Amino acid sequence: MIYFSAFSLLPAILLGVAMSVGWSVPAWAGTEATPPQASKSTETSTPFRRFLTPPSRLTPLIENWKNQSRGEREAALHLSGNVINGLRVYLDSCSNKCHLPHGQGSINGEYPQIAGQLREVTIKQLADIRAKNRDNPTMYRFALPSEVGGVQNIADVAAYIETMPMTQENGKGPGTDLELGRRIHDQDCVVCHGAHGEGKAEQYYPLYQAQHYEYLVRQYQWIRDGRRRNAHPMMVEQIQGYTQKDIAAVMDYVSRLKPSAAKLKGLAPISAPRSAPSAPKDDLL
Ligand code: HEC
Repeated sequence: MIYFSAFSLLPAILLGVAMSVGWSVPAWAGTEATPPQASKSTETSTPFRRFLTPPSRLTPLIENWKNQSRGEREAALHLSGNVINGLRVYLDSCSNKCHLPHGQGSINGEYPQIAGQLREVTIKQLADIRAKNRDNPTMYRFALPSEVGGVQNIADVAAYIETMPMTQENGKGPGTDLELGRRIHDQDCVVCHGAHGEGKAEQYYPLYQAQHYEYLVRQYQWIRDGRRRNAHPMMVEQIQGYTQKDIAAVMDYVSRLKPSAAKLKGLAPISAPRSAPSAPKDDLL
């Protein structure tokens, strides 16, 4: 069967692509995270606001966020993902256009590392792009049912993407303010994205460990400026006061968070839905 042979050839395809694109790592992007350095200045203008409970004025916005693209998202979440069909969808609609067979993105951050992303997050992002809640002019056409197909294909491709091996040879920041980055991350990000940037599937909080630095900075600005209308209202609120230095520091730190050994190797396919929440739960509420 063609899909099985494509699947077994994948490592060879990946190697070929890596060689043909001249996969290289800039000198400043070490594979080991640079140990946090003592920051010369621990002062920052960031008005850190870690909300344990969001202010009540955000409640309607958070309710709205929970309901975005709900129909299609829930339909896909309740389906078992077939990774073999997911591979076919990926090769037909995602890899040859932009994301390449390895799904590890580009060091300059033009494309993100999507390999290893939690399947619930991929399902939500695809449903959001289709419902025009996330402006992505580059990708919109490819996310349409005419290209990717219906909800079963979304469930399948999301399941496949989660099994893809990640790389930690990703684009990283300059490494100059990692201590500041760690502090901001601990205070304002861990609560949702996890200490290792591993995300939270059942709440659709993305995994962002080892993501390309330039991509992180760009997404962050888009979320702050409202270009990603699907962003969590609390995150949008929390990041408004950051200086450029804060943004660079926290994203640099995030880009150096290491994926687990299993994520680097690629996960064994799991076909049953891991969880099928009816709406994003929010443990902060
Ligand atoms: C209240 C929970 C919450 C907090 C706190 C939060 N985030 Fe997020 N973040 C989200 C959600 C939800 C998304 C996905 C938004 C969407 O659906 O597009 C997201 C998306 C992102 C993305 C885009 C990821 C991608 O792959 O495109 C980045 C980057 C990010 N967050 C960074 C941060 C950083 C850095 C912090 C801390 C300064 C932070 N977030 C704090 C919930 C949160």
